[in-house]
This record gives sequence, structure tokens and C-alpha cells, in this order.
Amino acid sequence: MKVIELRRKYVEFFEERGHKVMASASLVPDNDVTVLFTTAGMHPLIPYLLGERHPFGKRLVNIQKCVRTGDIDEVGDGSHHTYFEMLGNWSLGDYFKKESITMSLEFLTEVLNIPMKNLSVTVFEGDAEVARDTETYHLWKQVGLTDSQIYYYGRKENWWGPVGLTGPCGPDTEIFYDNGNKKCCVTCGPSCSCGKYVEIWNNVFMEYNKNQDGSYSPLKQKNVDTGMGLERILRVVNGKENDYETELFYPIIEKVEELTGVKYGKENERIFRIVSDHMRAAVFILGDEKEVVPTNSEQGYILRRIIRRTIRYIKLLGNNENILVEIADKIIDMYDNAYPELGDHRTFILEKLDKEYQSFSKSLVEGLKKAEKYFKGVSETKILNGELAFRLFDTFGFPIEFTEELAQEKGYSVDVIGFELKFKEHQEKSRIGASGRFNKNVAN
Ligand code: GLY
Repeated sequence: MKVIELRRKYVEFFEERGHKVMASASLVPDNDVTVLFTTAGMHPLIPYLLGERHPFGKRLVNIQKCVRTGDIDEVGDGSHHTYFEMLGNWSLGDYFKKESITMSLEFLTEVLNIPMKNLSVTVFEGDAEVARDTETYHLWKQVGLTDSQIYYYGRKENWWGPVGLTGPCGPDTEIFYDNGNKKCCVTCGPSCSCGKYVEIWNNVFMEYNKNQDGSYSPLKQKNVDTGMGLERILRVVNGKENDYETELFYPIIEKVEELTGVKYGKENERIFRIVSDHMRAAVFILGDEKEVVPTNSEQGYILRRIIRRTIRYIKLLGNNENILVEIADKIIDMYDNAYPELGDHRTFILEKLDKEYQSFSKSLVEGLKKAEKYFKGVSETKILNGELAFRLFDTFGFPIEFTEELAQEKGYSVDVIGFELKFKEHQEKSRIGASGRFNKNVAN
């Protein structure tokens, strides 16, 4: 199934069931200063989940552009991404668990033709604050799942939100595709990372608000918030092993092969995947209506970090040319049908990438040499102190996470708190003012 068809089928299915279609919001949230990027489809809907009336009504559907950097270290496996598209349908105080579960199952089994036997689901097991969600368990049984397909898990697995420190949240039920392989061990289940299970959909029963003091209170209305990652469901529907084999990524990988002359294979798959994932994220962030550019603070810092990490990984493929612009051009061609803002911003995107490459590529080489020297100097403790990490940042433009990654590859660590102190000292001296990057209230 082509991605264009999958997007259309999803939206039409929910439209036929009374949902109004919304456009994707910007990647930079309007209504939440505690988060840098839109991390889920529900993010722009927070006021409405809290009870404000939405102009489109109580049933909504959309495909939302999202950026999450919390999982950046997992990018390179088959299913984690910094940028992704989330298919979402919502009930704002309208239907609840029963209809949500019924519609999800119908879409998966009747529209996408995924056999019921290949589905497994997880349900919130309850804790001291919120009771076990037996209602959801029974609903799954009523629609035909067997006991062996339903798993109870705790808060870590089956509770979603809030996106910042406070806000709407609740227990969820997650739907997994089970590829039918044998369980890898006795405890193997949907939360296992052996590859047997792929999470495809998350239905959150959003009926709580997390308050400033950490307590939970009931929301004015019971909502449903669902999120299904387009990359994963496209892969499942097409029987692919991982998301990178789908049309959302494979042409990018081929472009990188063509530009570097290196073939994609088992030994370098992580590098190719990181490059294609990060380039896609950079293109979407630069192409967003909010026109984020690489800087040393907030969204611009995340963008810079993503681009600089890409430059290093391309170098690890043995390429020292500026191929960012050509990869980005390819990505814009692949996506501007669905996201015309990318085509509209083509020159802007390519210019900003070129500029970032020019400003970083030389200092990367010098900085890597200097880093080697610093690591040698601390070979006894294997801890790079804050002062040296700060020098790599200040002189060579190495984001702290970048230095941490270099250190990790050698089995070293970095004194990040020492780095933050140096950074703050420097800020005060140069009166730059607070950048927000080390503000613990800001998630990304
Ligand atoms: N808001 C549901 C999800 O992101 O999974």
C-alpha cells in the first residue's frame, strides 16, 4: 500500500464516522511553553481536552507532524525516529473506550486487512492512584481477542502524558502487531524489544489532569486521544522488516548511497538510518511555518544538534563533501505533495543547511582532534570535565550531547553538570541572557 493511500484511508474512515478533519499544526507549539516541539497529535488540542469547545466539534481526525528527541539514541533501530507523522483521532468528551476500541479494531482488520491473530494489546494494570482498567480488558475480549493476546502493564508502559509537567493524561491501551515469531523467552510480550511485537497504535483514555503538585484530578470531560505512527503502520501493512524499507525512507538511503558511493548494509545500517532520519527531521523543522533556524537556544539548538550529528555520521561513511543540500532536495521532492510548505521553503531550507555545514565542517575536524587529546588527558578517570566539554562547545561548536556521544563511544563519560555551570558562567559574563536550553522545565 502506498503511503498516500494509507493516509487517505485513515482520514476517510474517521470522517465517515463523524470526525472533522484538521490540518497538521506547526511543529512549534503555540500553547505550551514547557515543550519545544509538537511531540504528539494531541499537543495542539490541549485546551480542548481540558474542556474548551473546539470549533470543529467533538470528533476530530488529523495527521500531525511531530518531533521527539527524547529517543534520539534509539534512532538507528528499525522503528524510532526524531521526526514522524502521527495519525490521530479524538473524542473531546464524546465517545469513550468502547467506541474507540471498536473503531481501531475495525480499521486495522477490515480496512488494512491485518489478521486479528496478529494483534496483541496492553492495558493499564493499576496502581495506588488509579485502579486497574478491567473495563478495557473486557472490551477487548468482547470484540474477540483472547486472554493470550491481552497483557496488563504498569504506569511506565500504559499511562500517557502529560506532554509537559502538567496537563491532560490517562491510562492507555496500546495495540501491537505480532509478527507470529516464537516468543524469545518466557517473559516475552509486547514490551519486549526482540522484534516480535511492534507498537502500532496508542489509545489514551484521557480523563485526568496532572497538577503542579504532582496530584491527579478528574478532567471536566472524558476524552479519547489516539496516536498511530505512520512509519510503523506503513511498514506493517507492507510486510517490511523495519521502517527504513518503506517509501518514507528508502529513497533517502539510496540518495545517500549515490552521493557517498557507499552501499547500505548490515555493518553500516545504523549510520545510514541516522542520516536519513535526521535529514528528514531537519528538512521538516526548517520547512515549518515558524521558520526555525539553527542557533544555540531552544528549537534552534535542537535543530543545530540534529544537523551537526548528521554531518559527523556522514563523515563516518568516509565522505567529507557537503551532501546535505542534495539529500534535502530529494526529501523535499518526496514529501511536498503531502506537505507543500516544504516546496514553498525549498530555497530557505537548502540555504540554511548549506550555511550550517559551512560553519561546522571545518571546526568538526579540528574539534575531533582536540577531543581526542582531551580524552587522552583524562584516560585514568575516563571522565571529561565540564571545563573541557565547554571548550569543545565554545571553540568548536560541539553540542554537549555530541561530546557525550563521542565519550560514550570510547567508554568515557562527561561531567554534564560541570559543563552547565561553565555554560552559565559564560552566559553571565557575556550577558547573553537565559537561553532556556538547560531549563529543566523544558522538555524536547
Ligand atoms: N498521545 C498519544 C501518543 O502519542 O501515543
